[in-house]
Amino acid sequence: MTRRILVTSALPYANGSIHIGHLLEHVQSDSWVRFMRMRGHEVHFVCADDAHGTPVMIAAEQQGLKPEELIGRMQKEHEEDLRHFGVAYDCYHTTHSDENRELATGIYGRLQEAGRIAKRSVAQLYDPQNKQFLADRYIRGACPRCGAADQNGDSCEECGATYAATELGKPRSALSGAELEIRESEHYFFELSACGDFLKDWLTTAAPGPGPGPRLQKQAENKLMEWFEGGLQDWDISRDAPYFGFEIPAAPGKYFYVWLDAPIGYLASFKRLCAERGVDFDTFLAADTDTEMYHFIGKDIMYFHGLFWPAMLREAGHRTPTRLFIHGFLTVNGMKMSKSKGTFITAESYRKLGFDPDWLRYYMASKLNDRIEDVDLNLEEFVQRVNADLVGKIANIPSRVARLLASQCGGKMAAPGASLLDFDAEELAGLYEARKFSEATRRIMAQAELVNQHMEREKPWELSRDPAHRDRLHRVCTDGINAFKDLLICLKPLMPRFAAAAEDYLACGPLAWSGLGQPLPEGHALGEFKHLMKRVSAKDMDKLLAANRSAPATAAAAPAQEEKGAAYADIKDFAKIELRVAEVLEAAAVEGSDKLLRLRVSLGKDGERVIFAGIKAHVDPASLAGRKIAVVANLKPRKMRFGTSEGMALAASSDDDGVLVPLFVDDAVPAGGRIS
Ligand code: 2FM
Ligand code: ZN
Repeated sequence: MTRRILVTSALPYANGSIHIGHLLEHVQSDSWVRFMRMRGHEVHFVCADDAHGTPVMIAAEQQGLKPEELIGRMQKEHEEDLRHFGVAYDCYHTTHSDENRELATGIYGRLQEAGRIAKRSVAQLYDPQNKQFLADRYIRGACPRCGAADQNGDSCEECGATYAATELGKPRSALSGAELEIRESEHYFFELSACGDFLKDWLTTAAPGPGPGPRLQKQAENKLMEWFEGGLQDWDISRDAPYFGFEIPAAPGKYFYVWLDAPIGYLASFKRLCAERGVDFDTFLAADTDTEMYHFIGKDIMYFHGLFWPAMLREAGHRTPTRLFIHGFLTVNGMKMSKSKGTFITAESYRKLGFDPDWLRYYMASKLNDRIEDVDLNLEEFVQRVNADLVGKIANIPSRVARLLASQCGGKMAAPGASLLDFDAEELAGLYEARKFSEATRRIMAQAELVNQHMEREKPWELSRDPAHRDRLHRVCTDGINAFKDLLICLKPLMPRFAAAAEDYLACGPLAWSGLGQPLPEGHALGEFKHLMKRVSAKDMDKLLAANRSAPATAAAAPAQEEKGAAYADIKDFAKIELRVAEVLEAAAVEGSDKLLRLRVSLGKDGERVIFAGIKAHVDPASLAGRKIAVVANLKPRKMRFGTSEGMALAASSDDDGVLVPLFVDDAVPAGGRIS
């Protein structure tokens, strides 16, 4: 039975470049799609840039561009990067499209008709200078619990408290620096609270249709079920102008929140594709459809896809996703990607070094499974796996026989013998469909190993020295090539570049899964053999890290994955900082704060300062009096709950215990001395 399937990957934001974290998902979904197509199913594969929202608007402003210009550029860049890695969307669109506007307003209209849209007044922080309401990420202020200054809009890095931005002391705009006001504004809500029963049922009942496995992984189901404990909250789907997005119908100055029209963007891309290809879009969207819809997503966005999205679709009278395929994050050498370490690896850097995209695709597949685990890109293992598996086991087979076949056997296949492979192709197909790519690659390589062992035994390179062995040589080479063809079918979903080059050599046309076990016929003429796969070296990995260490910061940074403080400061930034020797005259704990000491220090001729330092838990204040420490003397005075801090005391900590030790300066240097 031919299944009709729509597959999506999460839409990359339009203000950042594609990096290997993105690629993990796009490679996974693309490989799955290629496999399902090889099985003969009708698969539509779409994606788009996620173009709306404040970060895109701000990035455009900072670059002196209109948002439309920025998203146009980024879309081109994203498409080029993805194409290079063999990720072949049938349609790569943008959420800022006519199709998406139409679908978003249509779904919103249906939700309104269903009585699921509510209007409520919300108190929010407003930047009077920029004339805009601010999202938490653009707000800084004093923590309502410990008083630490300059904390995030939603949580304190000093004491770990989480809070509403409106609770911050002296909230300021991180964009304009202005002091913020609390203002009321009308917001539109989708009544998720009314969808609890449907969602519980949706999450826990088997997915419909022929595919295997539950609606989403058990771990995700459990996580999502936690949201029901305190009762589902309605979802704020509007934002006030200025905002880059779609204006809500009959609500001037109100825009759809980016997360409302992002998943609808999946459908918008598909709608465009349907128009191009004459596919009936409505059949796929109908509540009683027998088509399938799968979303590949990262674990960080399962709430949107597992709660809001199915509820919205259902209340609008449409079909819901068939399954969610959720994966973990990518780490590099066991750690979060980091710009300073060069492990924030962009697609562009890999591409520009001329590395084979199939190396990465295969390596990722060898680590991917159906669980929500983080996947580690270990660069040493990458080199080892590519060289041992792809070069040593797979490409090695034709390398050993192709030239002999051409020079001594007329470049044509002999009558096929028994297959050198011994495996259950349906079992392997089951692993692929269930996204157990790691197990699939393990089994394929075990088969390749059998073929190589056979070659070691038969030694065609020795047979070729004696014309009396010509027939045997022809048989050995033929069996090797037929085995290689079957291995190629198995690997084809993962390695499109390699597969295309090998199909050229085999002159067999595009291989389908059903071709497994079907040897090339006697007399079949092979193409010209060219080397199929290069080795990779540890030095190549050094180049990759170096390219990413020295890469200038681009709009690319995906802040959630970027290591904090990893970006470079240039010499001009550093020259602005005035480091001085300060003698501690008095040090005392600040009452009501878990963190702070109040230091009165002398800068010699430049007088005294009061500095609040977050080292209360690390050092006995009595031990500080009379000591000389390093301070930043020209830090803009910061008003804190307990007074104004007129500088910053420097301290050091090790990664192991995080204990902060003030930077004591040698006694020979007088107070006020400059540190350079
Ligand atoms: O988290 C992200 O990168 C979002 N841009 C994903 C959106 S996926 C979908 F809902 F559109
Ligand atoms: Zn705090």
